[in-house]
Amino acid sequence: MHIVSVVGARPQFVKLAPISRAFAANSDIRHTIIHTGQHYDDNMSSVFFDELKISKPDVNLEIGSASHASQTGKMMEKIEQCLQAHRPDVVLVYGDTNSTLAACLAATKIHIAVAHVEAGLRSFNRKMPEEINRVATDHCSDRLYSPTPAGMANLNAENLVQRAIHSGDVMRDAVQHNIELALSREITTQRCFDNEYGVLTLHRPSNTDSEVLFRLLKVLDKQAQKTMPLIFPVHPRTRAIIEKSSLRLSSAIEIVEPLAYLDMLVAVKNARMVLTDSGGLQKEAAFLGISCITLREETEWTETIVIGVNQLVGSDTNKLVEAFEKVANGHTGFDEKTQVALDANFGHGDAAQIITDDLLTLFS
Ligand code: UD1
Repeated sequence: MHIVSVVGARPQFVKLAPISRAFAANSDIRHTIIHTGQHYDDNMSSVFFDELKISKPDVNLEIGSASHASQTGKMMEKIEQCLQAHRPDVVLVYGDTNSTLAACLAATKIHIAVAHVEAGLRSFNRKMPEEINRVATDHCSDRLYSPTPAGMANLNAENLVQRAIHSGDVMRDAVQHNIELALSREITTQRCFDNEYGVLTLHRPSNTDSEVLFRLLKVLDKQAQKTMPLIFPVHPRTRAIIEKSSLRLSSAIEIVEPLAYLDMLVAVKNARMVLTDSGGLQKEAAFLGISCITLREETEWTETIVIGVNQLVGSDTNKLVEAFEKVANGHTGFDEKTQVALDANFGHGDAAQIITDDLLTLFS
C-alpha cells in the first residue's frame, strides 16, 4: 500500500514522527512524505526531522509564507501535480494548518482517498483559520482519526462519526517515545534555569495581531519579576511584532529562539507551569505532569480543562494573574486520578499503531 503524508508546519512534523515509525516497521507500506514548505526556517522545520528521526521529505514544494488564500492555493496546485504523479492509495493529512486543507482538497478532487489524523477537534470559533481548516478537512476526508472522545462527539454532531474511530493522540505517542532521550541530553534551557520558571509561547494571530499581545506581555512581565521568571521561545512572527514595537521587557522574561522538539520537552518537563496559546503545548504539558494556563478564549482540548490541569484565561489579565499565582503556589490540578483520565481521553501512546492497522484494513 502506498501512503502519501503531507505536512508543512512544526506541529505536523511531531505528529508525523510516530506514524512514519509505525509505517517503517511494516513492509506492506510504502510511505512518501511531501513537505509543503509552509515552515522553512531550520529551527521550525529541518531540526524536527533530524531529532525525531523522520526520513527527509521526498518532495519539498517550498511554498513559504503568504496570505491564507495564496498560500493554500499555491499548495493545492503543486500537491495536485505530485499526487497525479504518485497516485497513492491514500493521502494522510495532519492537524489543522493550511497544508492540511490544501492536501485534503487537492487529493479529494482527483478521487484519491484522504485520512485525517487529529480529526473532530473544534474551537467553535470560525475566526480561527485552523477551525475552517478542520471543519472542511473533516467533511472532505474518507477516514477520520479522532484523538479524543470529545472529538468523536463533535464528529457525531456533524454526522461524520460513521467514518471515524477514536485512535488516541499521536502527540502522546511522541512524548512517550522521546522524553527519556530528551532528558538525557544536556541543553541550553537546563543551564539557563537553575531556578523555578514557567515556559511561555504566543503565536496565534488573535493574540499577536492586536494590542492583546502587549497587554498580556506587560502583565506577564510583572508576574515574572514578582513570582517566577519565564522563558519565551518566540515564533518568528511574534518576534517581528515585538521588535517593531516600543515594548521593553525586563530580564525576568528570557526571549529565546524557537526551541526544537527535544529541548521543548525538557523545558516543559522542568518548568513549574506553561503559559501558551498553542494547541499542542497544552497537551504536552498535561502529558508531562505540568500545569497549563491557556491564553485563548476557547480551546479544542476541553478535556484538559475538565481534568483540571489546564486553565483557560483568554486575554483577561485578572484571570491570568489569579491562575499564575494559583499554580505558583502549588495548586497544579494534578492528583492520583489524572493519569487514568489522560489515558481514557488521549490513549496509551499507541495511536500511530492503531491508525496504521486501520489504514491497512481499509485501503490496502
Ligand atoms: C501555522 C498554523 C498554526 C500552527 C502553527 C505552528 C495555519 C493557518 N496556521 O501558523 O495552526 O499552530 O503553524 O507554528 O496553517 N515564519 C517564518 N519562518 C517560518 C515560518 C513562518 O519566519 O519557517 C513567519 C513568517 O513571517 C510567516 C509567519 O511566520 O508569515 C506565519 O507563518 P504561517 O505558516 O503562515 O503560520 P503560523 O502562524 O506559523
